[in-house]
Amino acid sequence: MPGEIHAYLDERKAIVHTEEDRRLVGNAAYEAPSEDILTDALLSLYLGKNVLLKGPTGSGKTKLAEHVSALYNLPMHSVNCSTDLDAEALLGFKTLIHDEQGRSQIIFVPGPITKAMTNGHLLYIDEINMAKPETLPLINGVLDHRRSITNPFTGEVLTAHANFRVVAAINEGYIGTVPLNEALKNRFVTIEVPYLQGDVLFQLLKSRSKLRDEKLLRTFVKLSADMLSLIEMGQLPDEAGSIRALLDACDLAAYIPPIRAITRAIADKLEDERERAAVLNIAETFV
Ligand SMILES: Nc1ncnc2c1ncn2[C@@H]1O[C@H](COP(=O)(O)OP(=O)(O)OP(=O)(O)O)[C@@H](O)[C@H]1O
Ligand SMILES: [Mg+2]
Repeated sequence: MPGEIHAYLDERKAIVHTEEDRRLVGNAAYEAPSEDILTDALLSLYLGKNVLLKGPTGSGKTKLAEHVSALYNLPMHSVNCSTDLDAEALLGFKTLIHDEQGRSQIIFVPGPITKAMTNGHLLYIDEINMAKPETLPLINGVLDHRRSITNPFTGEVLTAHANFRVVAAINEGYIGTVPLNEALKNRFVTIEVPYLQGDVLFQLLKSRSKLRDEKLLRTFVKLSADMLSLIEMGQLPDEAGSIRALLDACDLAAYIPPIRAITRAIADKLEDERERAAVLNIAETFV
């Protein structure tokens, strides 16, 4: 990693946050499939670029954002474009309060974007490809190099603090992708976040699941590799490879027979009967 970044990391580490802000700093718990993923994410943010994490569900995008938040000691505010639909959920809203003397007053309660921009924090925009057309201009403004937006509720022009950074995520897998608006995509440095495999996956399952049986853990790693091949061939949907589901399967397999664990945590979530059978087929050859 470039030396400049190490110096910047040290500088950031020395920052003392308020208790509330400290709670917003993520955990450094992402295991990178290759070192360049983390290096490039850190470098891009250091340079003030917006980072777009692209990968299928359960591949560790949110974990990576939290990891970066931890390393840069940047409190993180999250918005999810598929649920935080309107400008109020993103920017904040006006409300009426009564002071001790009983006088009423209208105040603006800042939302995640406003807070992150004002305080120079990290903004994590999840499922950015699901943003509604009416919130796109807002998001574009946030991503723009001018880093300023007009708050429609207060009329105030909000310009971001110099430390403000943006990481977004898009659930784009190996097949069946939801395209991201070109103008949006253009504003990002893109980093692919693939499913963890091999030894790193083994270590992750071993350290983060309840399963202690190493032989069985290796079997789960093989199961994952085979499912990934089927995903790449278009015979299984992306979500079948989710590391989240695999961790669930390992947890269950610490208590119940592995096939049942795989059925519950992975196979039964799939819509198609043939897909469910394919997963159980692979499992039966191993377990
Ligand atoms: N590379 C990884 N390092 C550490 N944990 C991981 C990694 N990949 C997956 N996980 C684990 O899998 C789970 C899902 O990860 P995460 O929520 O970051 O995925 P995601 O890509 O954000 O998924 P989604 O698109 O559904 O939001 C987490 O509980 C995390 O512990
Ligand atoms: Mg996520």
